[in-house]
Amino acid sequence: MKTGQMAEKPFYITTPIYYANDEPHIGHSYTTILADVLSRYHRSIGEEVFFLTGLDEHGQKVQQAAEERGIDPQQHCDEMAPKWKLLWKKLHIRYDDFIRTTEPRHEKVVKDILTKVKDGGDIYMDEYGGHYCVGCERFYTEKELEDGKCPQHEKELEFITEKNYFFKMSKYQQKLIDYINENPEFIQPQHRKNEILGFLRQPLEDLCISRPKSRLSWGVDLPFDHEYVTYVWFDALLNYVTSLGYGSDPEFFEKWWSQAIHLIGKDILMTHAVYWPTMLMSAGISLPKTIFAHGWWLMEESKMSKSMGNVVDPMELIDDYGVDPVRYYLMREMVPGQDSNFTMSSFTKRYNSDLANDFGNLLSRVTRLIQKNFGGELPEWGECTSAENGIKKVAEGTVIKVNELIHAMRINEAIEETMQFIRSINRYMEQQVPWKLVKEDKSAAGRVLITAAEALRLGALLLQPVMPNRTLIVLETLGAENTKLVWGQLKSGNKLREHSALFPRIKVNIKLPDKEKK
Ligand code: MSP
Repeated sequence: MKTGQMAEKPFYITTPIYYANDEPHIGHSYTTILADVLSRYHRSIGEEVFFLTGLDEHGQKVQQAAEERGIDPQQHCDEMAPKWKLLWKKLHIRYDDFIRTTEPRHEKVVKDILTKVKDGGDIYMDEYGGHYCVGCERFYTEKELEDGKCPQHEKELEFITEKNYFFKMSKYQQKLIDYINENPEFIQPQHRKNEILGFLRQPLEDLCISRPKSRLSWGVDLPFDHEYVTYVWFDALLNYVTSLGYGSDPEFFEKWWSQAIHLIGKDILMTHAVYWPTMLMSAGISLPKTIFAHGWWLMEESKMSKSMGNVVDPMELIDDYGVDPVRYYLMREMVPGQDSNFTMSSFTKRYNSDLANDFGNLLSRVTRLIQKNFGGELPEWGECTSAENGIKKVAEGTVIKVNELIHAMRINEAIEETMQFIRSINRYMEQQVPWKLVKEDKSAAGRVLITAAEALRLGALLLQPVMPNRTLIVLETLGAENTKLVWGQLKSGNKLREHSALFPRIKVNIKLPDKEKK
């Protein structure tokens, strides 16, 4: 799809790098699909795009998972990486780089930055005591605990005292507050920004960035003390600059870095909006453009977790309903920034009403009428009436609105805007009744059908980043070679192609009362 205008800025988008100890679930899939949809859209309007995802392979969680399986952590990661890549393939994710933090290119960057930060006087050794949570891979202070437990994992925490290296995060507190206030795009949505500014009203503590090897050996060695490995977050966050060739390809790095958008879940806001920018300030690197924190997918109102046995397996959903409906549901249903509830009934409802009824039926209606009355060839455009001009106006307004909404990362609203447009094409068909009109005025019926087909072409193009496969069927059926987001591209006389039902309805098996059973 092309709007005709070439954008001047490149678009760099990242997902969090997922812990290699876990199996991917619907929550992880959401962020990656969101990044993919944004990438596809920006690419489609002529922007240069770089999309990064990958795996976080160090730290205690990964070490423990490997120990439980009785294998070496590297072997564990090597076995997990293909599982994640397979899911991304099945979800039709088109990333440009898949980074793994155990790669030499990354370990080099971690060591180089640690050396730089240490040389700048921002790392010191101290003895520290704190409540350590393995799940969060961090220490909690007494104040932060809830009933003596970790606020995230609700587990009693062990008090540990040890000598460690610290990063002078506190030194950058005021600079960070000023930066956040001066750059309204930096932390989004607004309520997350306020959350961080609220947190920064308290004095910021320094960050413990090492783990003694006696306790944890699976990590990047500190370049200045081989008795320690690097704290997993100090290591993992740097993936975003490693991938761009930080330290090895300055030109490439400069081109993309200033445009960086980090998509994250709300639970890792603190690490991204406080640890990461202060690390960058200390290392003399500019800050990313935006950190965007979305909410959580809940399962029947509660947190999805392996231990609760309520995680939704995206692979099963794809196998049952196809990849595009899964992508559509996740993108349409969540208001980015808020939590969302995953239920099979809302999935079925969305599928049947938006995809089968509104979108799929429109294609079959238009093509069936053209097959029956025009020998399967797109009819003549003819002289437009106010009804056609009306649809054209709605189409042009939708293209502009969708562009604005996607730039503001309001994907769910961009989709709804497009679906409203598709519903308006259905209404146009109902008002113009081409199936009746054809008996009285064949050329008028032809005009209505090519207008509806053209509107459908634009609707399909706008939905293409979300549903790249089924929309391609629409475009191929209509013979729409031209992917311009400009009205009037379909050519009269083009032969339509056969197509199967775009979104076959999901039949819900209703449990009938006994006496109604046959
Ligand atoms: N490894 C760290 C990230 C390091 S980034 C430098 C990590 N990994 S994670 O695998 O635990 O989580 C990755 C992302 O998945 C987080 O953004 C988290 O919010 C997201 N999600 C995990 N469960 C989720 C839901 N149920 N719903 C939505 N997103 C969720 O944290």
